[in-house]
Amino acid sequence: MDKQEIIKKIKNITEQEAIADYHKLINFDLDNIKNNTRVGNKFVDFFTFACRLETISKKKMTYWDFVSSTDYQNRKYIKRLMDYQDNKGIEYYTGMYSIFKLHCGCCSLFKPTIVMKLIQDFQPTCLLDFTMGWGTALVGSCAMNVPQYIGIDTNIDLVVPYCKMGTTLKELGTTSKFTFMFKDCLDVDYSELKYDMVFTSPPYHNIEVYPHMESKTIAEWSVWYNKIFLETYKHLEQNGYYIINITNKIYKSILIPLFGEAHSIIEYKKKKRYNNNCDPSEALFIWKKT
Ligand SMILES: C[S@@+](CC[C@H](N)C(=O)[O-])C[C@H]1O[C@@H](n2cnc3c(N)ncnc32)[C@H](O)[C@@H]1O
Repeated sequence: MDKQEIIKKIKNITEQEAIADYHKLINFDLDNIKNNTRVGNKFVDFFTFACRLETISKKKMTYWDFVSSTDYQNRKYIKRLMDYQDNKGIEYYTGMYSIFKLHCGCCSLFKPTIVMKLIQDFQPTCLLDFTMGWGTALVGSCAMNVPQYIGIDTNIDLVVPYCKMGTTLKELGTTSKFTFMFKDCLDVDYSELKYDMVFTSPPYHNIEVYPHMESKTIAEWSVWYNKIFLETYKHLEQNGYYIINITNKIYKSILIPLFGEAHSIIEYKKKKRYNNNCDPSEALFIWKKT
């Protein structure tokens, strides 16, 4: 079976289902976001789920490495989980995906509804997303018709999915204008951009390693975070909002020393992604630039 067929087994989302999900998103009551709200995820997954599967997890492997590793499959506890899935009649690759998420940590999606709520609260005219990932901020921005969205990412495998997603969003009637840059966010001249909201979810050290991204030492990450946060904050318009989704650890070690305590913090429950003692707890940290 080739990758495309396997992906269809794990998430078989048709274009009609994706579009229906986007319509639900547009009409979603943003005062009613719950922990289990998944509206909008299908639309995002329709375009970028395949790219998500190429992420190297905490256990240093992708889903594809996991399914082809007989070493793993021969381990007692993995076998037990596989038997459990099998007895329940769960399709093999779908079952393996659940086991992968459990064992290696899941490369999860940020909820488009949360992005929409922030947009409703802060009314940006241009949102900058300097590590745009799988597309939730783009989708949230378009659903809210934010006048301008600027997204940046080093993962060139996302070029085609993003172009397709952009075309579909336009066909579905968004009035948002968007610009995508597939390059290192440190190579962008932010003085040339005009934006009044930053919203992004950068990598959390090497917890996940994305295609076309090099892993770094903690010291190198520290330099990287300092540079990108300072530069993007510097050119944020006065009275604009700076919103970063990141771990508490990086907030405390990097962001507080740069900007002081956040003006507000939104904690939301995410599935526990890592089954060892690294610090996965994360939140949205918000500063208003005055
Ligand atoms: C997927 S998001 C992180 C998601 C979020 N931290 C989570 O796990 O919920 C991180 C994105 O940052 C991108 N990225 C990493 N280094 C980058 C860089 N130097 N410039 C731009 N994008 C980068 C990756 O390609 C990836 O798509």
